[in-house]
Amino acid sequence: MEFNQILEQIVNLGYLVGVLLFIIGLRQLSSPSTARRGNLIAAAGMGIAILVTLIVPMDKGADNYILILVALAIGTAIGLIASKRVAMTAMPQLVSLFNGLGGACAVAISVVELNDYQAAFEANGAGAIASGVHLTTLLAMFVGAVAFTGSLVAYGKLQGLIDDRKVRIPAPTYVNLFLLVVIIAGIVFKLVAPVNPFFWVMIVMGIALVYGITFVIPIGGADMPVVISLLNAFTGVAAALAGIVYGNQVMLVGGILVGSSGTILTVLMCEAMNRSLLNVIIGGFGSTGAAAAGSGDQVAREITVNDAAILLRYSNSVIMVPGYGMAVAQAQKVAHELEEVLEGMGVSVKYAIHPVAGRMPGHMNVLLAEADVPYPKLLDLDDANQALADTDVVIVIGANDVVNPAALDDPSSSIYGMPILEVLKAKNTIVMKRSMNPGYAGIQNPLFFKEKNRMLFGDAKKTLQDLVAEVKSLE
Ligand code: TAP
Repeated sequence: MEFNQILEQIVNLGYLVGVLLFIIGLRQLSSPSTARRGNLIAAAGMGIAILVTLIVPMDKGADNYILILVALAIGTAIGLIASKRVAMTAMPQLVSLFNGLGGACAVAISVVELNDYQAAFEANGAGAIASGVHLTTLLAMFVGAVAFTGSLVAYGKLQGLIDDRKVRIPAPTYVNLFLLVVIIAGIVFKLVAPVNPFFWVMIVMGIALVYGITFVIPIGGADMPVVISLLNAFTGVAAALAGIVYGNQVMLVGGILVGSSGTILTVLMCEAMNRSLLNVIIGGFGSTGAAAAGSGDQVAREITVNDAAILLRYSNSVIMVPGYGMAVAQAQKVAHELEEVLEGMGVSVKYAIHPVAGRMPGHMNVLLAEADVPYPKLLDLDDANQALADTDVVIVIGANDVVNPAALDDPSSSIYGMPILEVLKAKNTIVMKRSMNPGYAGIQNPLFFKEKNRMLFGDAKKTLQDLVAEVKSLE
């Protein structure tokens, strides 16, 4: 057997191992108890895939190794520094950015391939490259470009750099439809007459990059979870298409895994928002800036830490509702401490998890797992809504939109129809936050003014620490 053939066998074996590790890792990601290991296993799979790719026999000269190693070094350094430095609350933005870079890679490799095809078309005519391959590469470029710029816009929104309520496109549905038609026409035009100048490819790429921006700009407010998982699915599809172009199994399977899990997540997020995907894309939901039930003359009543501690200590059942504010305050460990103290006094404590609480799918689960909260203590939306009717006190820890009753009874609210944690079913509610400011959707929350609710103002971590001390003193 020739040396190159042996290398190819090693590469294929490495890809097989890499793919198996991806699948095992993904499987383990589905439970918080195995998720950390699953992540490491999938990362090992990616490491093996990169290493064996480096020994693929190259027909374009070994000089490329210098470029590859420099790119690898820069990418590794950026990845390491970014993930070490990022604050837990900025993790969703980082994930969005990394997702966008996946799309950018698909664009880069597609453009290089299309450039090579161009030379072949010009030398040997339209039949030089099969139209299936040509189409796949053009699609990889298109989907990758949308994922790239779309993820950058999502990053800007999550980071607070782009304000949904101010940055608008007039008639976005028509603009997007027009751009989509132009892109499809451009792809067809190049496919039908491949000898058309390379300039056309660049035009399609440019419009696709613009389309990524105009596609995500109108989607905002509470709908961001859907668009984030959708962009994730796009990147997977772009990688899978690029895998087909290169005949690279690990890229193909990796892309399919990301594309399909992103699609499943998109469906789950749509269900969590009670909206169809089409409605999210063309609806501009949550970006209208419509304020639900203004506060008017209503008064929100406060409670002292001492009174809150007494209420909790003499309850039978308590449910904590964590939200984005818990992530900001990094209050998950103190929340767990309060739970343990109350349980030690005979109070049953559970956590109610809304699927879009926080800023990324599974955000609350990750934080609570980090604080060693036992998984069976976590109730999903449906179970929580059943349990809430028999609950004495609900403590809302930095959550807002996911407990906003306007979603149930105010048709004029921009989150009307979104399933929420119906905390008003419980006997008492205590909302911990720093001010009366709205949450991510930018709308007022009528819960704060309800008779059975009390506000406990302050940073969630500090307030919980004070509560733990007060409850302990009641022993
Ligand atoms: P939000 O509605 O965003 O409310 C969070 C609340 O936390 C704010 O009202 C804020 O009020 C409070 N807060 C912030 N820092 C705090 C601190 N240090 N201590 C105490 N409170 C603090 O959060 P949510 O209820 O979790 O809802 C999530 C929202 O984000 C939904 O609209 C969802 O659609 C959207 N979203 C979700 C995702 C995913 S995938 N989960 C992605 C993007 C967007 P103060 O400023 O008054 O303290």
